[in-house]
Amino acid sequence: MLALYLITVLALGWLCYRLFLDPLSHVPGPFISKLFPLYYIRMIRDGKHIFTLRELHDTYGPIVRVGPGDLSFATTSAFDSIYGFAADKSFAIAGSRRSLLVPQDTMVDIMLSNCITKESRQLLRPLVTSTLSEITGACSEQLFNAAFSEGLKLYRVGRTGSTPVTLSDMNNDYMWDLGSLLAFGKHAKRFSRSKFDILVDDNERFMCFLEMCFCFVDRFTVQRYRTAFYKVWRFFCYLARMPTLQYGSDDHSNISFEDNHFARLKIAAKKAGEGKIADNYLELNSYSTKLSVYGTSHTSVNAIFYYLLKNPQSLKKVEEELLSTFQSYSEISDERLAKLPYLNACINETLRIAPTFSAGILQRVSKGATVDGIYIPAGTGVSVDQYSLAHSEEHWESPGSFLPERWLDCKSRKNVKASRPFLIGPRQCPGRAIVYQLFRLAVGKTVYLYQMELMNKNFDIARHSSSCLAWTNIDLEVAMKPRVPDVLGY
Ligand code: HEM
Repeated sequence: MLALYLITVLALGWLCYRLFLDPLSHVPGPFISKLFPLYYIRMIRDGKHIFTLRELHDTYGPIVRVGPGDLSFATTSAFDSIYGFAADKSFAIAGSRRSLLVPQDTMVDIMLSNCITKESRQLLRPLVTSTLSEITGACSEQLFNAAFSEGLKLYRVGRTGSTPVTLSDMNNDYMWDLGSLLAFGKHAKRFSRSKFDILVDDNERFMCFLEMCFCFVDRFTVQRYRTAFYKVWRFFCYLARMPTLQYGSDDHSNISFEDNHFARLKIAAKKAGEGKIADNYLELNSYSTKLSVYGTSHTSVNAIFYYLLKNPQSLKKVEEELLSTFQSYSEISDERLAKLPYLNACINETLRIAPTFSAGILQRVSKGATVDGIYIPAGTGVSVDQYSLAHSEEHWESPGSFLPERWLDCKSRKNVKASRPFLIGPRQCPGRAIVYQLFRLAVGKTVYLYQMELMNKNFDIARHSSSCLAWTNIDLEVAMKPRVPDVLGY
């Protein structure tokens, strides 16, 4: 009886605190978000994270309480405060989704993208940044060509006449292969890609479980005892018979290219006298490169094709630019593609209209800071919703329209700070240059080789794709007709 009484008192106390005393209780948002992170869980369950978050911003304004300890901002000033050059003083990565979502405990603080200690970052950031920029100049184009031609062969894309091809599957397959080639210099075995997809699902469920834990335990504590939380989660999975997957080395073919990210990392670490970084640490950072290439490029590359195929006037302009620049396929090089204004504008416009990362993965944890005039207590998760910024009339004219021209004449872009897909500041993406290169090659070569027409015209990215931590399931059924029959000779 006494226990029941105590539980009731505690529950009422907790309820009163959450509703009236919590320093965030005045922040607008759905009522339930004061108590439980059900909105976040629903967004993940429905695969509509990006769109639901935007709806919340449309309803409640530029600052929304998404969960008891989770705020989303949609202002460029919040972007500067949370991700800018001085941001690390006020916001931590420890306790954020990014640092908690590592497949195995042995990976914590070893991969640059999830590093939580200053020492590990100081060691890894220069190594990863310099080696990624080295491979961009040295071998990435050659490796792209190897993966791309395998993809075309595998899908038997229009040798002579028009062929119906699931372009999105082909892009995903060769980007997975390209990730392997860039990271380790080896072609990937196709089936191992499905392991990655299971891992993503597993991670998303684990994150929902952690969000429930954050109602009662603060994020820094969860970070400190992550292993224990992970074990409890595994136990639940076991009871509920949910499929889970442990990270393990992927299968690679034997054919290898000597120049690759892992090889460069080993040389750079040796040169820097960083003997203390074991090879398996470096290998995990190359593995992260593989996942980054596949995990981001395959969605964004598919998004570029989606917007081009849905906007034939833009596709026509890309075609004209390519066909008037190159006399033959063998002339196409990234050095020359980089100088084509319209092609590059299409890439920028896609990264604006469908930012690769949503607020979910770009989360930081406040150490006690003020953003847009609101004091955010230590332990609160904060992020800026890039999608809401990109779709705001305040920053763009006709924000929902795909208008590459806005990157050429500046007319319909009021505030370029509202599209910064690679972030700014000390954690900005070190893969930016390679991303532009790969996107230019993917679009440039495909459009140069094929006339394309979308067959599943009813596919709508907003209604039919899935968006959790990034976009997925962009389905492109395309009729592809070679401009010059048998040009590749496979
Ligand atoms: C469309 C493609 C891509 C976009 C939009 C993108 C964007 C981003 C963003 C926003 C971050 C910061 C995340 C955060 O701090 O919360 C990031 C980090 C990172 N990205 Fe990318 N990325 C892309 C592709 C790539 C690729 C292909 C690579 C590798 C080849 C890569 C390597 C990294 C690494 C290593 C980090 C961690 C940096 C650090 O913590 O210091 N990214 N990326």
